[in-house]
Parts: sequence; structure tokens; C-alpha cells
Amino acid sequence: MYLWIKAFHIIAVISWMAGMLYLPRLFVYHAAAKPGSEQYETFKVMERRLYRFIMTPAMIVAWVIGIALVFEGQWFASGWFIAKFILAIALTFVHGLLGHWTSQFAYDRNRHPQKFFRIVNEIPTVLMIVIVILATVKPF
Ligand code: HEM
Repeated sequence: MYLWIKAFHIIAVISWMAGMLYLPRLFVYHAAAKPGSEQYETFKVMERRLYRFIMTPAMIVAWVIGIALVFEGQWFASGWFIAKFILAIALTFVHGLLGHWTSQFAYDRNRHPQKFFRIVNEIPTVLMIVIVILATVKPF
């Protein structure tokens, strides 16, 4: 049963990360598009649907199943899990920021240039790499 739960945790995490890596990329191109243009409006729809119907539900499922795994495996006091938990909270904060920028674009209030979102794009990438190593290798 534990392995089935873990399999669904990983499925939820993959869906969440797909959005966390793709949405900032959409922002990079959106920041270069002309406000009011057809392209600009299309990016709004893509971002809203990705954030609301894929990323947010996947994040909630990853958290709920992740916490179930903590109880099942009794991982509370494990060093790797404490470090992972802190990074998962940081990732969730970045998720919230991506939601904020999605609504900034939706209301034509984006003030950030492309370069800003290119840098933002690297943050979930680095967090994901460290989290996966912690969860799989359990170095401490
Ligand atoms: C959101 C809060 C999260 C919690 C509470 C959580 C908790 C856990 C727990 C307790 C395990 C079981 C460890 C084991 O049985 O070996 C696990 C496995 C795993 N988690 Fe998470 N996790 C979370 C988020 C994430 C994220 C964001 C990622 C990737 C970016 C991730 C990737 C993994 C992977 C790859 C495994 C399988 C490790 C293995 O079997 O070796 N988790 N998680």
C-alpha cells in the first residue's frame, strides 16, 4: 500500500513541477508580447488554465499524499525529510508568487521584464533537483 501511495505522490509531483517549470517560461514570452494583442490575450488564458486546473490541484495532492507518507513511514525526525519539508514550503511560496504574476498579467499590470522571468524560471528548477536528491538518496 505504501508504494502505491508513493507512486501517486510522484505522479502529483511531476504534474506540479511541469507547471512550475512551464509557467515562468510563458511569462518570458508574455512580457515581450504587445499588450492588447491577440497573442497577449492567448497567453492570459494559457497561464490561468495551467495555474488553476493543473498546478494548484497537483500541489494540493502532492502535499496531502506527502503528509500521508510521513505518517505511514514515520519520517518526522529524519534529517532528509526536515530539509525537504523546508524546501517544499519554499516551492509552495514560489507557487504563490507565480499565481500573483498570473493575475498581474491578467489585469495588464505586469511590470517585470523578460530577464526577470528568465531568472525566476531557475528557482523551481534548483529546488526540484535538491528535493528529489533528498527524497531518493536520503543523505542525512
Ligand atoms: C509538498 C510536500 C511534500 C511532502 C510532505 C513529501 C513527503 C514525502 C515522503 C514522506 C516520501 C517517502 C519517502 C520514502 O518512502 O522513501 C516522499 C517521497 C518522494 N518525494 Fe516527496 N514530499 C513532498 C513534496 C515533494 C516534491 C515537491 C518533490 C519533487 C520535486 C518530491 C519528490 C519525491 C520523490 C521523488 C519521492 C520518492 C523517493 C524514493 O522513493 O526514493 N516530493 N515524499
